Amino acid sequence: MPITWNASTREFRLGNGSVSYVLTVLEDGSLGTLHFGAPLHGMGARGAKPAGGAFHGFSNRLDEPVALECPTPGSGDYRAPALVVEHADGSSVLQFAYRAHRISPGKPPIPGLPATYAEAGDGAETLEVELVDARSATEATLLYSVFREFPVVVRSMRIRNAGKEALRIRCVMSASVDLPDDDWLLLTLSGAWGRERHVQVRPLRPGRQSVASVRGASGHEHNPFLALTRSHITETSGEAIGVSLVYSGNFLAEAEVGLYRTTRLRIGLNPEGFCWTLAPGEELATPEAVLAYTSDGLGTLSDAYHRLYRTRLARGVWRDRPRPVLLNNWEGTYFAFDEARLIAMAEAASSLGIELFVLDDGWFGRRDSDDSSLGDWIVDRRKLPNGIDGLARRVEELGLRFGLWIEPEMVSKRSELFEQHPDWAIGIPGRERTEGRNQYVLDMGRPEVVEHLYDALSQLLASAPISYVKWDMNRSITEPYSLALPPERQGEFFHRYMLGVYDLYRRLTTAFPEVLFESCAGGGGRFDPGMLAFAPQTWTSDDTDAVERLRIQWGTSLCYPPSSMAAHVSAVPNHQTGRITPLSTRAAVAFFGVLGYELDPTALSPEDAREIVAQVVLYKEHRELFQGGRFLRLRSPLDGDRNETAWMVVSADRRHGAVGYYRILNPPNPGPRLLRLRGLEPDQTYRVSVWPDGDNAIARANAGQRRGDELMAVGLAVDARGTSLAERGDFSASVFLLDADDEMT
Ligand code: DGJ
Repeated sequence: MPITWNASTREFRLGNGSVSYVLTVLEDGSLGTLHFGAPLHGMGARGAKPAGGAFHGFSNRLDEPVALECPTPGSGDYRAPALVVEHADGSSVLQFAYRAHRISPGKPPIPGLPATYAEAGDGAETLEVELVDARSATEATLLYSVFREFPVVVRSMRIRNAGKEALRIRCVMSASVDLPDDDWLLLTLSGAWGRERHVQVRPLRPGRQSVASVRGASGHEHNPFLALTRSHITETSGEAIGVSLVYSGNFLAEAEVGLYRTTRLRIGLNPEGFCWTLAPGEELATPEAVLAYTSDGLGTLSDAYHRLYRTRLARGVWRDRPRPVLLNNWEGTYFAFDEARLIAMAEAASSLGIELFVLDDGWFGRRDSDDSSLGDWIVDRRKLPNGIDGLARRVEELGLRFGLWIEPEMVSKRSELFEQHPDWAIGIPGRERTEGRNQYVLDMGRPEVVEHLYDALSQLLASAPISYVKWDMNRSITEPYSLALPPERQGEFFHRYMLGVYDLYRRLTTAFPEVLFESCAGGGGRFDPGMLAFAPQTWTSDDTDAVERLRIQWGTSLCYPPSSMAAHVSAVPNHQTGRITPLSTRAAVAFFGVLGYELDPTALSPEDAREIVAQVVLYKEHRELFQGGRFLRLRSPLDGDRNETAWMVVSADRRHGAVGYYRILNPPNPGPRLLRLRGLEPDQTYRVSVWPDGDNAIARANAGQRRGDELMAVGLAVDARGTSLAERGDFSASVFLLDADDEMT
């Protein structure tokens, strides 16, 4: 039983062999945390401690190790709260006491919000604990779900106003956990457009340290994920705690070190600018937080998130289907295309073995640049005289599936939609709206806007054989304000926006279950678990430069599986950095995700075309491994002289693996260098082959049979001496393929 209640000690024990969460109902009725982290088989009588009572006037009233599960302000806990409400009289104090609980099999959905789910056989259970503040009749239901096979506890909260007067929620976290020490490093995934999710690590210090978004989307700047790690953490050893939020809008993820050097971790909706009114009888559900624990290093932490998000967050037919290799026309044409050009590209893509042709921005309205037509989801017949249907059918005749780009949440000033409904664009009456990328954002919190978009987009998707949709979102929100909300409810704006986006996603993915959705926000500006619940893959970054992608994909892999990372090979000089890297290196990086090409295939040299054919063949042959294998990070692009990166994927049965090794600059006289692998079967003999193949020194040094124990203890030779001048050079990469060779065992 993953969840038990002991009525005599008044303790809840949640967990499995990998994680434990122990809660207790304290003497004054409040719900306290006894432990989160390492799996426990028993626990002493600390739960007898009362909460609250008198306190030394300048400390915290709570004895810090016995923290509360739902800390609130105003009663002597001066750290950041999990819940702040404003009662009708303007006061904020809540004194929550346990009222009831329920333990049930499985995991309930959260109305209106994306969430992980349980399937029969998962051994999942959910605990709901009801707390009530008697004076105001405010109810908080804390939800905890545990799966048998994952080292995670999934938390969320529901607040209900059972009182007679309206209540204003000013802050509501999805999870708040107190840890007994501060001896942690804080790891976040931060960056900007074109360099998303770079790993940042810093020691915890007294006070609050956080990452957050106020942009209306999770954003390029910070990801709704953080980890606390012990200072000696490696990929394979050391304690780590992760918190990740299944949400795509304004979030806060924070660690606070208090005066007794304990640490409070919080994650949830960003309280900045947030205020939600609950009328009597109404309730609000928070997004869910996924708390993970390991004592076996960062690799195990990532593994937990990868497995959970790939199999119990992603859903629908595309969860387990191999994803197609695509060609996206964006960098090949930008806005300058017509039907003949696209068909020529699709023909060339087909001859390369590509499976899906994606028409990106510029096909609708009169969109010859980024300053018009968003919102007018009607084909531009000047460019495509036979419509989307005509083009899609032609593409299908060439043996490819057809995919289309949309940006539903936006409207251009120069568009019919804006002319008809200027009030649908977000803005404050009497103030200028700020354009971002020459466009405005639609108020997705208004049901009529979502309704209109559903009608327009479902007609579009039904009008042609469209197998894939890239859903883009290209600006942050400014002048947040909804004409549909009264002044006192404007603090609900951002969350209502996300609820509207989720509603549209849910309706479209339900109506078109066979369509593969890929989410995007100017590259990876909304790469988060909320999006993955609808779109199982995300455009990782607009930056397709192979060197930059090493850091981006490395950081992204801390929380997200390769099946979620769309990774494309683009032309050189790279459009973002101007860098020229070998075609094989660009592919060797993109293989470790969902492979695509983002170039003009009609402009390829015969050698490059031949090479791409071979790349696509190789990827398809190992596609399930690349997309669904266990991903292990081997050598960090952030370590040492930052010149090398290596990672690998291993199949579930450990019979197959693929290793990517990348070297940025070619050092003179490097000496022999070995790369130790992980995750293999020690007794298994593997046939090692090297890509790019041919007679090169790395291939000569490694090809052949090797046992798993040797590959893990000794490793692959990655800087083979004797490399000829032609094989040397900067930006090099090798992919090693490992296949069980039973005849040799
Ligand atoms: C931003 C995306 O990240 C790109 O891939 C491309 O779709 C452009 N938008 C199109 O406007």
